[in-house]
Amino acid sequence: MKKWFGVIGDPISHSLSPFMHDQWFRENHLDATYLPIRVSTERLGTAVESLRLLGASGWNVTIPHKTSIIPFLDGLDPMASKMGAVNTVVRNEKDELIGYNTDGLGFVRSLEEEIGLNEKQSSILVIGAGGAARGIVHALSESGYEHITIANRTIEKASLLIDEIGRGEALSLQEAEIRLSQFHIIIQTTSAGMKTDQAKLPLSMERMRSDCIAADIVYNPLETPFLKIASEKGGRTISGIGMFVHQGAIAFNYWTGIEPDTLSMKQKVTEHLG
Ligand code: ATR
Repeated sequence: MKKWFGVIGDPISHSLSPFMHDQWFRENHLDATYLPIRVSTERLGTAVESLRLLGASGWNVTIPHKTSIIPFLDGLDPMASKMGAVNTVVRNEKDELIGYNTDGLGFVRSLEEEIGLNEKQSSILVIGAGGAARGIVHALSESGYEHITIANRTIEKASLLIDEIGRGEALSLQEAEIRLSQFHIIIQTTSAGMKTDQAKLPLSMERMRSDCIAADIVYNPLETPFLKIASEKGGRTISGIGMFVHQGAIAFNYWTGIEPDTLSMKQKVTEHLG
């Protein structure tokens, strides 16, 4: 019987997940399809019950439902529970809906495609302490990265996250700006970084080292102002495409047991974005 999957969010029409998962279903000769479903905040509970009733085998969850979906599920994977956010739902053999979070690990896999093993001990700065940063920081910590600093406009949120992982340091954006040259890897996770206006960057990149690796979680536009400045200063850059493809690949693996091809998918998504 044909299986079906999807992604719920609002807005949803821009999502590239249907493009990606449908392609992987075809490549792996699976009789399955993947639908974008727009769900407003008020109707989230009804939507989850409908997906349950209509036999969806699993789905992705995007903005604004990553946290609010939790009470409607039957269980949570420990990582999703730690992050307090779900981006993937799996219907298990007992017909239960279990929430997972593949965003953070997706980011770490994308980072690890670009860096050497010896760079694991690098000093990392994460800018931002919102939902996206939470996933990344927990996944970095669980993957053995020890030197993590978090800088956030609201420093209390950065301190809270540092307490959760039990290592590292929280800074204000101003402090991070002054100490920027001490970091080998800088990860930009704030929504301010999505703007195309360089003046709106959360902090000045003036003191960035020229051998720095700069990673952004945004993939549209491909070159964010943050990545543009970093590459002008000679740094290596990592766009959000890798994170997007890897979070999807981990979800695909939960649903099908198959490890899909991420290398050619990154290329296809890049071409699709033009
Ligand atoms: P997401 O789930 O996408 O991470 P979020 O949880 O709303 O979204 O978090 C947004 C992040 O961007 C936060 O770190 C936020 O800083 P605060 O915690 O101080 O709100 C950061 N952010 C948003 N607008 C910003 C701005 N203009 N300058 C600096 N940081 C900003």
